[in-house]
Amino acid sequence: HRTWRIGVAGLGTVGGGLLGFLEVRPQYAPAGGRAVVTGVSARSRSRPRTVDISNLAWFDDPVALAQSPDIDIFVELVGGSDGPAKAAVEAALQAGKAVVTANKALIAEHGAELAALAEAKGVPLLFEAAVMGGVPAVKTVREALVGEDIRSLSGILNGTCNYILTEMESAGSAFADVLAEAQRLGYAEADPTMDVGGFDAAHKITILAALAFGGAPNYAAAEVEGIAAVDLLDIRLAGDLGYRVKLIASAERAGEGARVRVRPFLVRKDHPIAQANGALNALFIEGERIGRIFLQGPGAGAGPTAAAVAADIADVMTGAVRPVFQGPAAGLSPCAPSAGSAA
Ligand code: HSE
Repeated sequence: HRTWRIGVAGLGTVGGGLLGFLEVRPQYAPAGGRAVVTGVSARSRSRPRTVDISNLAWFDDPVALAQSPDIDIFVELVGGSDGPAKAAVEAALQAGKAVVTANKALIAEHGAELAALAEAKGVPLLFEAAVMGGVPAVKTVREALVGEDIRSLSGILNGTCNYILTEMESAGSAFADVLAEAQRLGYAEADPTMDVGGFDAAHKITILAALAFGGAPNYAAAEVEGIAAVDLLDIRLAGDLGYRVKLIASAERAGEGARVRVRPFLVRKDHPIAQANGALNALFIEGERIGRIFLQGPGAGAGPTAAAVAADIADVMTGAVRPVFQGPAAGLSPCAPSAGSAA
């Protein structure tokens, strides 16, 4: 069996989880060969970690790791829509390497150009971990439902906000205290404004909308409102009336495009979306023939998100790889339904 040399840039929550997993289970993909991390890049080499990186090649610059001839697959876990993450992903694709990323901001904001580059180079660009952590939402929408005309998507796509709203309701805790706890548990982004402001959920629903309706991700068109204005009194009054406050991300076909929104909603307590509490994520997919599908599971955290990265690495190793977005990415208008599915 072939050994695939994996370069990992970014050793935070997800990177640590991935290294720990591959160290003990390099042959987890039955048909895929061995996945062995050989090179890493992160902000600090010496910071205490749960995994030992002393035997791995160290790169101060993620771009140098991405270009290294000793790497077969580049895994980007740095985060951020621009800066080193984007530069490194571009460098890896330019060098003809498969890229696996958990970076929703990068794919939502630059997915079309990166997809065009990946397709021009004939290499995979995969991002299962970018949406809903351990829940296979990207695969479901892009691959399992490729023969379906999806009408709408809606659900909870940010674990941090859901955790905050859940704890405010169940423990009556103050917003700031719960946010600090979400950061400690490894759910929150490096900049928690991304979570609390609704931007992280907007990145994720933008990606799913592009996959579901055909077209390029169009993050600029998303309408976004976060949970900063939700207070304990809102949550208590909603509860008395039989409702729970949830941050809902939604996308539906609208004319030639899609309407993509994130905002707090009142959800009846007996609705499945209201039962997804803590850091859980949930997603309803509605289609012409399937009716409704409901996905729910861990949307954040080291273990689940690293499992999604590992699933993408397995797809690269086994060659089970599809185009990044439907149709040639370069020729698509922003988030418009593809020509064949408009009827
Ligand atoms: N900060 C994100 C969340 C992490 O809370 O959902 C997973 O993408």
